Amino acid sequence: MQIKTTPAQALKRRYPEQVVLVTTRNAGGRANIMAVGWVTLAADDPLMFLLGIDDAAYTYQLIRQTREFVVAWPGTDMAPAVLYAGSQHGHRLDKLAHLRLPLQDGLKVRAPLIKEAVANFECKLVRIYQPGNCPLIVGQVLAAHVHRRAARRRLYTVGPHHALGALRVHRHLSG
Ligand SMILES: Cc1cc2nc3c(=O)[nH]c(=O)nc-3n(C[C@H](O)[C@H](O)[C@H](O)COP(=O)(O)O)c2cc1C
Repeated sequence: MQIKTTPAQALKRRYPEQVVLVTTRNAGGRANIMAVGWVTLAADDPLMFLLGIDDAAYTYQLIRQTREFVVAWPGTDMAPAVLYAGSQHGHRLDKLAHLRLPLQDGLKVRAPLIKEAVANFECKLVRIYQPGNCPLIVGQVLAAHVHRRAARRRLYTVGPHHALGALRVHRHLSG
């Protein structure tokens, strides 16, 4: 049986939710990183991601300026990095230097790959929509990379207040 509630209350039952890391690089060469939970695939041919990124985020500014970014899927051991990337603004702060996250050069964009991520997707900006209060960034994947260890698993938001954790993956689905 369904009980009527407010959309905001119903939304609290949405977990687990994806979380990705988005990297960018400014004109001076300094890279930045942020956490994004509002993310989905937008197309598979060509592959596209759609990300909801607040216009106050430095990442939003850099994506508009450089028209490129990397979407990385964090591994289950990367919760502290995700929380830091998702709670500090990169306008003046070098979050990647603080985190000492190993990086790798991409092939198509200047934004860095996260070396220990489950996968990295190099993206070029296709379009920004704003149907509500949050800009929606559509990026087309130009190149993709996976961790050499196929057993590495993704981190998810498993509950409110940015509770992060692993999900159980069925062996026959895990590939
Ligand atoms: C788990 C998690 C998910 C987040 N999801 C989003 C999101 O979907 N969109 C957004 O704009 N901010 C999101 N944030 C907040 C940003 O990561 C945060 O504002 C960050 O400091 C922006 O960094 P920047 O200003 O360096 O770009 C999330 C934070 C966390 C911890």
